[in-house]
Amino acid sequence: MRRKVTVVGAGNVGANCALRIADKELADVVLVDVVEGVPQGKALDLLQSGPVEGYDVTVTGSNDYEPTANSDLVIITAGFPRKPGMSRDDLLLANFDVVRQATEQCVRYSPGCILIIVTNPLDAMCQAAFIVSKFSKNRVIGMAGVLDTARFRTFIAQELHVAVENVTAVVMGGHGDSMVPVVRLSNVAGIPLTELMDQATIQRLVERTQNGGAEIVKYLKTGSAYYAPSAAAVEMAESILKDKKKVLPCAAYLEGEYGISGLFVGVPVKLGARGIEQIYQIKLTAEEQAMLNKSAAAVKELVDVIMTRM
Ligand code: LAC
Repeated sequence: MRRKVTVVGAGNVGANCALRIADKELADVVLVDVVEGVPQGKALDLLQSGPVEGYDVTVTGSNDYEPTANSDLVIITAGFPRKPGMSRDDLLLANFDVVRQATEQCVRYSPGCILIIVTNPLDAMCQAAFIVSKFSKNRVIGMAGVLDTARFRTFIAQELHVAVENVTAVVMGGHGDSMVPVVRLSNVAGIPLTELMDQATIQRLVERTQNGGAEIVKYLKTGSAYYAPSAAAVEMAESILKDKKKVLPCAAYLEGEYGISGLFVGVPVKLGARGIEQIYQIKLTAEEQAMLNKSAAAVKELVDVIMTRM
């Protein structure tokens, strides 16, 4: 049976998600956006790439949600992007309204779907979608860790002049400046990072990872990153649609894991047909746990603001 994925938001992240899904023939895609003509135009353009690229899926664009009915998976990318000097948190209230409406509509037409949230500030937007959807926690997942670890892996590979596919990195916590690259668990073909680089170099790469989104916003000026974010969201989608059970860092609703309760925070999870099928609890050092707590506290501050509006 053909699978169906809805991508909400036909901006750069959403359109690239649609392109990557089509390119991998993961599912038929419905692209939804409030701007008239844009999802329709981009969907048609994507459809017409099929004969050249050799993919054969349906791509539809729409301003309303009716065509999204019975989607297996929904990726919510809609929202205002960051401008230079803005933090992800500055987007909180504007994007909260966007995500709330998108979630309500998607859930109405696809009550059995799995939600992947991409809109920033990521962890708080997951919380909003979780509350609005009333879905079980395994069906609401945030994209951040795959992107943040991809950045860390890139910087490590560049620094050491090694193949990026040899580099494994772990980044936990919220998708903000206080995210926690876990150096102890990051390695190159099994060799611990600490054996390969001095502390100052590691710290430089950690900080570059924490500021990875802002570095791109500064270059682009009118928006934020989209190639790597869409690649990350689609890796998660693929693991779910194909029940691959990949272990990936994602924002998940924690209920006591890592001593954190009632909050979305980035942790390693197993992604399969049921969404989050397992949350991995790694034994952290006191220092790592303190960093994670600090990152979770930053997420909670934002969640507290949106909770007053629920
Ligand atoms: C980034 C934004 C999209 O990290 O959060 O690039």
